[in-house]
Amino acid sequence: MSERIAVCPGSFDPITMGHLDIITRAAAMFDKLIVVVMNNDKKHYTFSPAKRKEMIEKCVSNLPNVQVDVYDGLLAEYAAKQNACAIIKGLRAMSDFEYEFQMALTNKKLNPNVETLFLTTSAQNMYLSSSMVKQIAGMGGDVSDFLPEVIYDDVLKRISSQN
Ligand code: PNS
Repeated sequence: MSERIAVCPGSFDPITMGHLDIITRAAAMFDKLIVVVMNNDKKHYTFSPAKRKEMIEKCVSNLPNVQVDVYDGLLAEYAAKQNACAIIKGLRAMSDFEYEFQMALTNKKLNPNVETLFLTTSAQNMYLSSSMVKQIAGMGGDVSDFLPEVIYDDVLKRISSQN
């Protein structure tokens, strides 16, 4: 049987404990999981795509079937190039739903060979987001519960250099 490949796209600006939880659970379901750093036109990023990729790589070094990539283009196109059968997204509160549903339908239209699968977030990560983490860190708050330990210093260094 051919390898079952999934892609897990996102901004990851930076990767949080919530993302890492979804990545770890998805990696257990597929032969190969490609975490891909992409662009969301509506966002202004704190970290470069290369830095976001580097931080994810540090966090997934214990997951042998996970690869990390950067792609500046359409997700549906990237999934086709990688022969992926699934796009993995994490769903937090209902407020994520409408936007994610719209993206899933659009991606299906652009690439009918790929299914979007939603994994529900773990309860402790329900309201966790990269932008919230950056806001708290920027005001000197403790974000150690929200960030993987291996990237904690990278994030704090960048945030403090902005202030
Ligand atoms: O972490 P985010 O910001 O919610 O991720 C959104 C992202 C980057 C996955 C989404 O904006 C995306 O897929 N961008 C790639 C461009 C694309 O395919 N746009 C059409 C989506 S319907």
